[in-house]
Amino acid sequence: MQTRHKNILYNLLFLVVCAGVLLFLLFAPPETTKPLPHDQNHERFMTMKKKEAEKSCETCHFPKGEAPLPETHPPKYRCLFCHKRK
Ligand code: HEC
Ligand code: HEC
Repeated sequence: MQTRHKNILYNLLFLVVCAGVLLFLLFAPPETTKPLPHDQNHERFMTMKKKEAEKSCETCHFPKGEAPLPETHPPKYRCLFCHKRK
């Protein structure tokens, strides 16, 4: 094949891959991880520095605490990275 034709082919291939990635992102499932709740227990963490706030989470969210994490909970390093404040 001539180089020119090869280049056209590669360009087309590139476009197809881009379209694929775009479609994947458009149809990705919505974020389902629960955000930090707006209630008495959590309101004060909304405005705190994230790292500061995260130090307090496990005073209630530990195995014998008032709100233990589910057993299926993923690795819990940096709570607010997954449980967004909104
Ligand atoms: C004073 C105790 C306490 C502290 C501190 C605390 N929580 Fe909670 N949290 C609770 C209780 C009780 C519940 C369950 C009832 C509820 O939804 O408020 C809960 C529920 C949650 C939920 C589930 C909400 C839902 O929609 O079901 C998330 C997520 C959460 N907490 C994250 C955090 C994070 C992140 C921190 C640290 C920034 C934190 N909590 C600090 C007591 C606490
Ligand atoms: C890697 C992302 C991630 C991190 C980091 C994380 N969580 Fe979670 N959390 C999740 C997911 C996903 C679920 C739902 C898991 C399930 O139902 O088994 C969940 C569930 C919860 C629930 C129960 C919500 C309900 O369904 O009632 C609480 C409470 C909670 N997390 C608190 C915390 C706390 C506190 C921290 C930090 C110590 C933390 N999470 C860190 C992803 C995360």
